[in-house]
Amino acid sequence: MHILITGGAGFIGSHVIRHFLNSWPDYTITNLDKLTYAGNLANLSDVESLPNYRFVKGDIADGRFLLDLFGKYRFDAVIHLAAESHVDRSIENPSEFVVSNVLGTVNLLVAARSIWEGSCEGKRFYHVSTDEVYGSLGSDGMFSESTPYDPHSPYSASKASSDHFVRAFHDTYGLPVIISNCSNNYGSHQFPEKLIPLFINNIRLRKPLPVYGKGLNVRDWLWVVDHGRAIDCIFHHGAEGETYNIGGHNEWANIDLIRLLCRIMDSKLGREAGTSEALITWVTDRAGHDLRYAIDASKLQRDLGWVPSVTFEEGLEQTVDWYLENQAWLDQVTSGQYQDYYEKMYAGR
Ligand code: NAD
Ligand code: DAU
Repeated sequence: MHILITGGAGFIGSHVIRHFLNSWPDYTITNLDKLTYAGNLANLSDVESLPNYRFVKGDIADGRFLLDLFGKYRFDAVIHLAAESHVDRSIENPSEFVVSNVLGTVNLLVAARSIWEGSCEGKRFYHVSTDEVYGSLGSDGMFSESTPYDPHSPYSASKASSDHFVRAFHDTYGLPVIISNCSNNYGSHQFPEKLIPLFINNIRLRKPLPVYGKGLNVRDWLWVVDHGRAIDCIFHHGAEGETYNIGGHNEWANIDLIRLLCRIMDSKLGREAGTSEALITWVTDRAGHDLRYAIDASKLQRDLGWVPSVTFEEGLEQTVDWYLENQAWLDQVTSGQYQDYYEKMYAGR
């Protein structure tokens, strides 16, 4: 099988590629990535020389380019992860999110249809989406696959729109699609603009830890390796046209997670207890900040037998170890344009 994986140089995509290359050595994997600020080929240095792996640099917003690429390689399947993924950036620049996340997804659907029409047997278009499409929960309840869409940020609105297009291509043209909506991922190789790697980086540099609002927003955290395992399971065994929620039953209020991270970091860095917590700084809240996400992943467990493989404490400790052992990676990705981003995003907050 020849699979096109988009966004494979990013955080989750690089884990998915590594997982598929290790688990399915008979498959050929082509990684298509634009290499935005979030895409980094160093994330794949351990697998890039495998004979069944290929990298193509390109933009999914370029429909002509995609038609040519699909015509050339005649992919059997697509696992689509490429997207602009950071909520704060979407508040600054919403249009970029429409171009990559909405137009880019439609272009991929059109290109897949161009080579599969009339012979969809054994083909699959897997769209990787987010729980943020469901909006925000109050203090109780969970998102199920039938929760109505109610996105609040430009990012989640763009992902919701892309999900609708994927379903529309199934219903209108019979494209063999499948969608998963996952909760917050954490793990190695995540760009340090997202909460956990940003705070690990700031703690090691003894920089302030900017907590939005009162720190009471709740997220449901899943180890990225377990997301990769879930994608494999759904890709191979999920039912065509279905949606599967993926989550770790692992809700944390931001401030509780931050305090746990501070304790782990103090211990790993040999600093006195309380040193990292003293860096906490309360800053202006994110506009339209969703209060709580919680995923009901019982369909995935019941129908396909998937469950997370690690506890949060285990996964977080492994994650901290990876960043501390790979400080050169952190230094590399936070050089250059990152400094301008950081100044702009957090100045005056
Ligand atoms: P990321 O920002 O780390 O990586 C995105 C990748 O997509 C980068 O390599 C980037 O270069 C590439 N890309 C962006 N625009 C592109 C374009 N126009 N053409 C080609 N490549 C492009 O993102 P991530 O956190 O790894 O998320 C991957 C996917 O998973 C996204 O679709 C995201 O919505 C979804 N998701 C993320 C999370 C999470 O917690 N991070 C949770 C659920 C779902
Ligand atoms: O739920 C899945 C989503 O999780 C994915 O679809 C997104 O791509 C991914 O970025 C993530 O979105 P969040 O907005 O939840 O993640 P982020 O790491 O940006 O923020 C997590 C929480 O921490 C959120 O409540 C905002 C808060 N936060 C974040 C940053 C960057 C802070 O308090 N301070 C910060 O500096």
